[in-house]
Amino acid sequence: MVASPSATIVVGLQFGDEGKGQIVDLLAAEHEVIVRYNGGANAGHTVRVGGERFALHLLPSGVVTPGTINVIAHGVALDPFVLLDEMDGLAGRGIGLAGRLWISDRAHLVLPWHRAEEALLERALPALGTTGRGIGPCYADKARRATALRAVDLLDPALPAKVAAIARVKQLQLAGLAAAMGQEPPAVDAASLAESLRAAGERLRPYLTDTVAALHEALATRRVLFEGAHATMLDLDLGTFPYVTSSSATALGVHAGAGVPARAIGRVVGVLKAYTSRVGAGPFPTELHGPAADRLRERGDEYGTTTRRPRRVGWLDLPMVRFAAQVNGVTELAVTGLGVLAGLDELAVGISYRLGGESLVRLPASAEQAAMVQAVTEPVKPWPSLDGGTTWADLPGAARSFVERIERDVAPVRWLCLGPGREEVVRR
Ligand code: IMP
Repeated sequence: MVASPSATIVVGLQFGDEGKGQIVDLLAAEHEVIVRYNGGANAGHTVRVGGERFALHLLPSGVVTPGTINVIAHGVALDPFVLLDEMDGLAGRGIGLAGRLWISDRAHLVLPWHRAEEALLERALPALGTTGRGIGPCYADKARRATALRAVDLLDPALPAKVAAIARVKQLQLAGLAAAMGQEPPAVDAASLAESLRAAGERLRPYLTDTVAALHEALATRRVLFEGAHATMLDLDLGTFPYVTSSSATALGVHAGAGVPARAIGRVVGVLKAYTSRVGAGPFPTELHGPAADRLRERGDEYGTTTRRPRRVGWLDLPMVRFAAQVNGVTELAVTGLGVLAGLDELAVGISYRLGGESLVRLPASAEQAAMVQAVTEPVKPWPSLDGGTTWADLPGAARSFVERIERDVAPVRWLCLGPGREEVVRR
């Protein structure tokens, strides 16, 4: 039973890579249970602890905080092999998960044919620039039902028969797609896949549970933190469709993806970067090009955590983050990346859009029109280095004015991350 609305959600307000991992890591110290509720190994959350860097894809960022319980809820697209690799990687660095990882037995499985299907679709149609982790096809199978497998199936003695039946359909589907592309069909070896899945299931057995029941019990007595993966503008329903990911990447996804009602949530922390980055295709009105973009990308080390692809970069887009704060019900903000902008001679912020002589504050529904939208920007007074700043008062006036502008437009700012380390966070 939910005792009081004490749970927290952390969610990205742009296109991902806002630095949510850093905020979750900070908040993990104040929470006992950390929950992933959407997406899969397409996410990349970087957490730095005492000079060590952890790049997490499926496991909640709380795993690096001793004493926390970490939950992979049923809304997550679960690749059992990636998960086991990640668990082994942590074990190799002295981080054990026994008794502190709960995995939903209802989570849908990402299987090798999902990656194969995605790779073919990315070639057969205009590419979305996906991470190639099979996430879209996995959620498509979840919606189709008959071709889906869930974590609970890993423990079912009938697993080989289930895999064989679905593999027959997948083989036909992949062969059709491959033939259309003039390619050899990818091989699907159902028997060996079933055996690998059975073995993975045995290893995961101690962690698989009914996470809805466990979470409801936890909500009555413990502080629970929900860690959003990806971000609002990549949300399947609210983002820049079709250049989005296939899950509910906003705070709204918590309810369906973890089975937790709205009244359990006390606060929603929106994370925004002081500029914008995007991986993959899709509209990006404040995007920079040429040397200005290169400088920002290098300074911010804007390369994908999952794929190391260079990220597209541009100025902060205020209408976009205002929209994101609204739909998520953001109660407070964490602003990252201020240090990356320090020392640049010219800074700007997007304040509205123009399309064919019309002024807009919301991207149009049509992907083609959204791609033609131009940002109207305003200059921002640059600030020098932030080195040595540990309090709000230490920050240069221009940086403080920029933050105050975000507050006026979006929501109160509680944390400023000047750099990626735990010790580089200014609280307000
Ligand atoms: P998918 O999630 O692999 O299907 O990719 C769909 C789109 O979302 C692509 O543009 C990806 O680059 C983007 N995307 C997915 N996950 C992330 C993330 O964690 N950070 C940034 N972009 C992401």
